[in-house]
Parts: sequence; structure tokens; C-alpha cells
Amino acid sequence: MQRVGKSLSYGIGILFLVLIAVISFTIGWRPFIGPKARPLTSRKFEVTPQRLQRGKYLFIGLAGCAGCHSPHDWKSHGAPILEGAEGSGEVMPLNDVPGTIVAPNLTPDPETGSGTWTDDQLARSIREGIGHDGRTLFPMMPYERFRTMSDEDLASIVVYVRSLPAVRNPLPKSSIAFPVKYLIRSVPEPVNGPVAGPDPNNQLQIGAYLTNIADCVFCHTPVDSHQQPLPGLDFAGGQVFSGAFGRVASANITPDATGISYYDETLFLQALKTGYVKARPLNSLMPYGDYQYATDGDLKAIFAYLRTLKPVKHYVDNSEAPTYCKVCKQKHGGGDRN
Ligand code: HEC
Ligand code: HEC
Repeated sequence: MQRVGKSLSYGIGILFLVLIAVISFTIGWRPFIGPKARPLTSRKFEVTPQRLQRGKYLFIGLAGCAGCHSPHDWKSHGAPILEGAEGSGEVMPLNDVPGTIVAPNLTPDPETGSGTWTDDQLARSIREGIGHDGRTLFPMMPYERFRTMSDEDLASIVVYVRSLPAVRNPLPKSSIAFPVKYLIRSVPEPVNGPVAGPDPNNQLQIGAYLTNIADCVFCHTPVDSHQQPLPGLDFAGGQVFSGAFGRVASANITPDATGISYYDETLFLQALKTGYVKARPLNSLMPYGDYQYATDGDLKAIFAYLRTLKPVKHYVDNSEAPTYCKVCKQKHGGGDRN
């Protein structure tokens, strides 16, 4: 009896150790103990005209803040933001997400917006993924990319958010399905040191910085059935989205013949600012509604950076019927040509 008891407790002990090892090497402990979060500070960002201008430029433009955090008219070309509703939040208009994802009202309305949040609560949300109330933000909010946002750009955005006209817009809170709700807790990472921006005289560095902040790679990389990006296919397109804007696959924007190797700077600027590639209109999910505000210099820097990407052969064409693609194992326009 004693021996049975002993081997049973060994058995349980070993099982326990295996469980610890499995958790440590797979999902880690964050889903159980909560996200990495640093304590809030009382820092306040000084308001300057330069910061207001730079903050606005990024907020409504390349950083996509207004794009996600505002209601849109999805029926019109470029999905313009509803009049007077900039930054007032929106239920994300996407199907195939785990739950209801809401981009909150960021305008300084004290009840439904950010009126009672401190500068550091906003800053920590933007670069480190912890909401004002301490919750882990669903990583559709691109805080993993914003980690590399310079301290000065971060300060500028917070200063601009504070200057938005307050809009009362009550929205539900995000409700994220189990188990994703817990798994995302391993994503946030504190930013502990200073973050510098790109060298203002280095076009490629500016391009890399802005491409990252605009999170082009998020939409332009195909994903598996768990929404995880497929390795080796960065910027190669074929991720399928459906929602208020219809159904569309992202384009291959690598410099391959199946991508945009035929583009020149002029065509790139036209596509990003107007949503037309010559006469072909682009789906409004592609945020040209935001990118129209970007300077030609910044867009040229992004184009120069995209030119340095590894060309990936992956044919995607939304004008053709969705068919199975053996490169990304999804169904998208022109998939059978791969
Ligand atoms: C791709 C869409 C998207 C973009 C781009 C985006 N956000 Fe968000 N943001 C979200 C979503 C969705 C949430 C809510 C996540 C959740 O509830 O788990 C969020 C949450 C936040 C929060 C936390 C609010 C709170 O409740 O504490 C802040 C602050 C914020 N975003 C600011 C910004 C700023 C500033 C930018 C631009 C620099 C930006 N966001 C860009 C989608 C986006
Ligand atoms: C929210 C998702 C999303 C983001 C973010 C995004 N795109 Fe797109 N983009 C798309 C989709 C979807 C299409 C395909 C539209 C269509 O075919 O109607 C597209 C199309 C394009 C095209 C047109 C290619 C062609 O067919 O000729 C270019 C160029 C492009 N994107 C570049 C970019 C760049 C550069 C960025 C970042 C600065 C970016 N996109 C960010 C979703 C996105």
C-alpha cells in the first residue's frame, strides 16, 4: 500500500514538473500571473506648437490612430471619418476576430473618453499595451510596433490627443474570447530606456521607422488559422479580411514581379494618397484615407524602404475569384496561380 502511495506521489510529482515545463516553454506564465507592467509615473508632456503639429500629423496620418479610433462612412471611397467624430472611438468593423474589439474614445470627454486619464496612462497604453485601467490591450492596437516610437513622437501624440475636442460617445468595452483573453497577457513589455527616432538625414531609416509605425506588415502578411503571421512571407500579402468594407485580400508589396516591382515613386504616391492604382480603385480597408495626409517626403522614404525588402513570389489579385493558394494555404484572389 505504502509503495503504491509512494509511486503515485512520484507520478503526480513528475506530472506536475512536466506541466510546469510545458507551460514555461509554450504559453509561459503571464496568462496566469498577469502582464508585465511598470508602475505609472506623474510625468506630464509639455505642450508646444511643434508637438501639436507633429502629433496631429501622426495621429490622423501614418500612425493610424484616427483611422482605428473613429467611426467611418464605410460606403464611400477611402471610408472618411464622420464629421466632428475624430478620435471618438469605434467598434472595429472586422469579422473573424475573437470577440468584440472596441477602439476606445480617446477624446478628453471625462465620462466616455480620456478626460480623467493621465499623460503616462496614455503613453503606457500606446507603447506598452497596458490600458488606463491596467488591462492588457488586445494587440490589434499596434503597441508592439509603437514600442519603437521615439520619445518625442510619443509626447507629441499625447499632447495632440489632449487637444482634441471632447466628444461624448459611449461605447461598450472590448470583450475578448477565452482563451485569447488570457494568452494576450504575454504580449505587453515595458519600455524602460530612452527611444530615439531615425536620423533625419537618412531616408532609409525614416522609411523603416514609418513603415513600422504604420504597421503595413500587419495587414500585408498572410496568417495561419490562429491569426499568426506565416514565417518568410512578410509583406507578401494574401491576408483575407471581411467586414463593413466587404471582403478583400491584402496585396503583395515586396519588390517581386508578383508584388509591386513595377511601381515607381509616382505610382506609389498615387496609390497611397488617392486609393487608385492608375484607374483601379483600392478597397477602403487599405488606409489611404489616412495616408493622404502624409508628406511626399515621408511616402518616398517608405517606398525606398519597401524596395529593400526580400522579394517574395506570391500572386494575389482581388479582381480574380478566391481560390486555394499553396503558398499561404488560404483562399484569395488568384490563389491557384501560385
Ligand atoms: C489597428 C487599429 C488601431 C490603431 C492603428 C491604433 N489603435 Fe489604439 N486601440 C485599438 C484597439 C482595438 C484598442 C482597445 C484594445 C482593447 O480594448 O483590448 C486600443 C486601445 C488604445 C488605448 C487604450 C485606451 C484605454 O482604454 O486605456 C489608447 C490610449 C490608444 N489605443 C491610443 C492609440 C493611439 C494614440 C494610436 C496611434 C499612435 C492608436 N491607438 C492606434 C486599435 C488601434
Ligand atoms: C488595415 C490593413 C492595411 C494596412 C495597415 C495597410 N494596407 Fe496596404 N492594402 C491593404 C489591402 C486590403 C489592400 C488591397 C486592396 C485592394 O486590392 O482593393 C492593400 C493594397 C495596398 C497597395 C496596392 C497594391 C496594388 O494592388 O497595386 C499598396 C501599394 C499598399 N497597400 C501599401 C501599403 C503600405 C506601404 C502600408 C503601410 C504604410 C499599407 N499598405 C498598410 C490593407 C492594408
